[in-house]
Amino acid sequence: MLKKFFNSQLLNKFLYYRYRFKQKNWTVYELLHQRSIEKSTDYIENYLSEVLIFPSRERLWKYAVTLLEQKSRIIELGVYKGYSINCLADYSHMKDIDIWGFDTFEGLTESWFGTSFYPGSYSNDGQLPKTRSTVTLQKGDLSNTLPNFLKANDRKISLIHFDLDSRNITFTALNLLNSVIKDSTLLIFDEYHGFPSFENGEKAAWKDFALQENLSWRYLAFSNQQALIEVSKSN
Ligand SMILES: C[S@@+](CC[C@H](N)C(=O)[O-])C[C@H]1O[C@@H](n2cnc3c(N)ncnc32)[C@H](O)[C@@H]1O
Repeated sequence: MLKKFFNSQLLNKFLYYRYRFKQKNWTVYELLHQRSIEKSTDYIENYLSEVLIFPSRERLWKYAVTLLEQKSRIIELGVYKGYSINCLADYSHMKDIDIWGFDTFEGLTESWFGTSFYPGSYSNDGQLPKTRSTVTLQKGDLSNTLPNFLKANDRKISLIHFDLDSRNITFTALNLLNSVIKDSTLLIFDEYHGFPSFENGEKAAWKDFALQENLSWRYLAFSNQQALIEVSKSN
C-alpha cells in the first residue's frame, strides 16, 4: 500500500509543484500561463502516436507547405506586419503557389479574453506591410473582403492560415470560407493552445464549426501554440 502511494502519480505531481514553487514566487499571470501550457500538453499527449510535433511555428509552416499541391493557393487571415505571410511565401514559391492575405491592418476588433490583447492591439496603423511578389493583400474587415474575393477565386485553396486570435471572428471567417473548405484542405490555427483560456479561442471556433458542419478531420501536427488540421469532407 505504502509502496503504491510513493509510486503514485499524485505524489509525483505534489513533489513536482512543491519543488517548483520553492524556486520562485509565481505571479497570477505567470501561473495562468504555466497551467495553460500543462493543460495543452496533456491534450496533445493523447495524439502523440499520430501527429508531428515541431519546436517552432516556422517549422510547422514549412511542413504544411510540403503537403500542398503545385499551383494551388494559400489564404491568410490576420497579416499584421507580414511576418507569417512572407515566411509562407518563401517556403511555397517553388511550387508556384500564390497567397492572399486579409486584414484591416487596424488591429483586433474584439478583446482576446485570457490574454492582454484588446481592440486595436496588433494595429499596423492601417498600413500595408511589404510582402513578397506572390502575395496579394486585401485591406478591410474580412466580413466584406472575403465574400468579394471568393466570388472571383479561380484556384484551389489548399491551406488556410487563421491568425485572428479570438473565437468570434475566427468562427465568422470559418463560416465565410465554408464553400472552399473541402476534402484535404489544410488549416493552421496560430493560437490553438498554450495560453490562458485557449479552450475559448480559435480552438473553440474550430470545434464549434466542425460540429455545426458535421466535418471529419484530424490533427497532422502541433507546435507550441499552433495546430495543423486536415479536413475530410465527402461532398
Ligand atoms: C496576431 S495579428 C496577425 C499576425 C501575423 N499573422 C503574423 O504572425 O505575423 C492579428 C491580425 O488580425 C487582424 N484582424 C482582426 N480582426 C479582423 C477582421 N475582422 N478583419 C480583418 N482583419 C482582422 C488584425 O488587424 C491583426 O493584424
